[in-house]
Amino acid sequence: MKPLEEVWKDLEKYLNVENALEEGFSNGKYTEVLAQYAKHVTAIDVSEDFLAIAKNNLKEYNNIDLILMDARYLSFSDKSFDVLLNTSFHEFDLSGDEYQVDLNLKKEILEEMIRVSNTIIFVEPTENAVTNELFKVFNPNENHSDRIYQSNQLIGNVMRENGYELVEYGLTYHKDQFSSIEELEEEMLSWWADIKVPQNEKEKRDMIKKIDQILNDAHMLEDLQVTEEISYRVWRRK
Ligand SMILES: C[S@@+](CC[C@H](N)C(=O)[O-])C[C@H]1O[C@@H](n2cnc3c(N)ncnc32)[C@H](O)[C@@H]1O
Repeated sequence: MKPLEEVWKDLEKYLNVENALEEGFSNGKYTEVLAQYAKHVTAIDVSEDFLAIAKNNLKEYNNIDLILMDARYLSFSDKSFDVLLNTSFHEFDLSGDEYQVDLNLKKEILEEMIRVSNTIIFVEPTENAVTNELFKVFNPNENHSDRIYQSNQLIGNVMRENGYELVEYGLTYHKDQFSSIEELEEEMLSWWADIKVPQNEKEKRDMIKKIDQILNDAHMLEDLQVTEEISYRVWRRK
């Protein structure tokens, strides 16, 4: 299996365009990838905190516009973009006491995506990614594997109903290498700090213990490498 960095190169024929849109830029990690291919990137997110972080991370780029905008209500005209990139966008309100998947919300977002671009690329951890288990440390009610499964079923249905075909798909992975166990644990604690931050030392130790157990069971603790299985899908209107 090729790492994600190599898969981007394989997808370059879809990414080398005039105008690209990214939805859910968060810290700008994938906005940066897209900006190396597309002449101009518009990227949206609903979080003001992420806007400040991404602005700082991407300050060297002059071909990126970061905008606070809800993916349900895009203020762009029809077919404004040559490609739309969407990474890990199954996650809306993940903090609840009860596990819920709002497929109507997802459908509204997909309909807007279809309105603005004929090529749509989804890249996200799979149902088997270790992320799904780790998430339970932050909210035991969340069933991330099921959320990803349901969300992907809906994406497939909506895309096909609207005349899109899957022109490229596959599995890849992303690997984070850490230099110490402390660095790894701190990084894991920060991944879902928007869902839960430990309130005291005991809670922090308990969360770290669970994280270590999950990574140990997945054989990722011994060499301090956290590897996530990721899927990619390119949909194009026929
Ligand atoms: C799980 S993060 C994924 C971040 C990044 N794309 C990645 O893969 O690392 C989802 C992002 O989508 C944003 N988001 C959630 N709902 C949104 C909406 N309705 N419109 C735009 N952005 C949204 C969140 O603020 C968050 O930055």
